[in-house]
Amino acid sequence: MYVCSCFGITEDQVKKHADGGACTPRQIASACKAGTDCGGCVRRIQALLGRGECPRRDLVEGRTAPAGAPVTLGGAPGAGLSDAA
Ligand code: FES
Repeated sequence: MYVCSCFGITEDQVKKHADGGACTPRQIASACKAGTDCGGCVRRIQALLGRGECPRRDLVEGRTAPAGAPVTLGGAPGAGLSDAA
């Protein structure tokens, strides 16, 4: 079944690219151009990629903590946000 009719990319092709390490619609686009014309297939590609673990996606998004671990973005809550001079 076609996922991207603009480039004739099938669901199987997207899955093969995902198996090869493409974890985001952008990476799929780099691999086969799917999603780079009208963009109408991006949500479907995202849905295909959205299942299961993807270590590379975690790296791309800057997550290095194990799954389930709380993510903190530096410093104590509220640190550096004071208006006091
Ligand atoms: S259907 Fe994929 S870019 Fe148009």
